Amino acid sequence: MVDEQGRIINYMRISLTDRCNLRCRYCMPEKGVDNLGHYTILSLEEIARLVKIASQLGICKIRLTGGEPLVRKNIGQLINYIADIPEIDDIAVTTNGILFADMAEELKKAGLKRANISLDSLVPEKFRFITRQGDLSLVKKAIFKALELDMEPIKINTVVIKGFNDDEIMDFAQLAYDYPLHVRFIEFMPVGDLLFWKRDRMLSSLEIKNTIETRYSLLPSKSIAGNGPARYYNLEGGQGSIGFISPMSNHFCAECNRIRLTSEGGLRGCLYGKEEVDLRVALKKGYSDDEIKELFAKVIKAKPAKHNMNAGWGEENKRKMYQIGG
Ligand code: 5AD
Ligand code: SF4
Repeated sequence: MVDEQGRIINYMRISLTDRCNLRCRYCMPEKGVDNLGHYTILSLEEIARLVKIASQLGICKIRLTGGEPLVRKNIGQLINYIADIPEIDDIAVTTNGILFADMAEELKKAGLKRANISLDSLVPEKFRFITRQGDLSLVKKAIFKALELDMEPIKINTVVIKGFNDDEIMDFAQLAYDYPLHVRFIEFMPVGDLLFWKRDRMLSSLEIKNTIETRYSLLPSKSIAGNGPARYYNLEGGQGSIGFISPMSNHFCAECNRIRLTSEGGLRGCLYGKEEVDLRVALKKGYSDDEIKELFAKVIKAKPAKHNMNAGWGEENKRKMYQIGG
């Protein structure tokens, strides 16, 4: 479906849960993250029904996010349901990788095409620091498993935080040089646990790119298969690529092709907005497929032209990023 700004909306991100098996400092507080009861989140059957309805409006790409999507039970079954919908041609997950290696074969069999794996440090102690509890070796295993299973393109998401991992930018570039991995450097955004966010901890994509260019020649690449807002470059002579996601320094809203579904059934046109339509209530009230389709159309129509995150995430935004799905 085409929205009011002429953007083709063909991609839906679905958060399967707010829960996570890590506690990244910029994302969640250490304690006291509310656990949604199972009765307030959509069931897998409800999610599958919503995907089917959305597919009739032109949604053909699905990404499962969280929290951490792989902590949700029976995710293989959900992927199976979604893969059976003929209009859907791409199913991916965004995961922290902790549980991925052991589940990957099953998920691939169910129909998962690829995974984006989050990784902010290549140093075990620093990884443990930023995630408060994560074991880096498990994420490495996840990346090698994805390579072994040819789940291409394999993207690594790295949030760059000044004073934490800016000294590892070259090591991440080297990773993309040595392996067919697409490392995406993400500008640090004021969207999670704001106690950790500081403007002076943010490094712009341009600064990161300048650093990398002191060692590598970067050749602009056509975009890598996927749906995201990253700008990619090949490293001359290298196997993979690097990309930049610049929500702070460069609005990519004009190319935005997505809608988002929260684990509680809130349908959103924009990550940073506060508008949400409650599909869970619609399901509980027994709305027909056509009535629910109308609600999808309404959200797509009302997709804002651009966000205003530089002015802050906004106190009035009742949800955190991990509750919307990044
Ligand atoms: N700024 C930038 N990226 C973030 N992510 C989570 N919180 C933030 C933030 N405040 C990233 C995660 C993951 C992706 C889905 O979003 O690290 O890689
Ligand atoms: Fe979990 Fe991702 Fe948040 Fe880290 S950034 S705590 S992995 S949801």
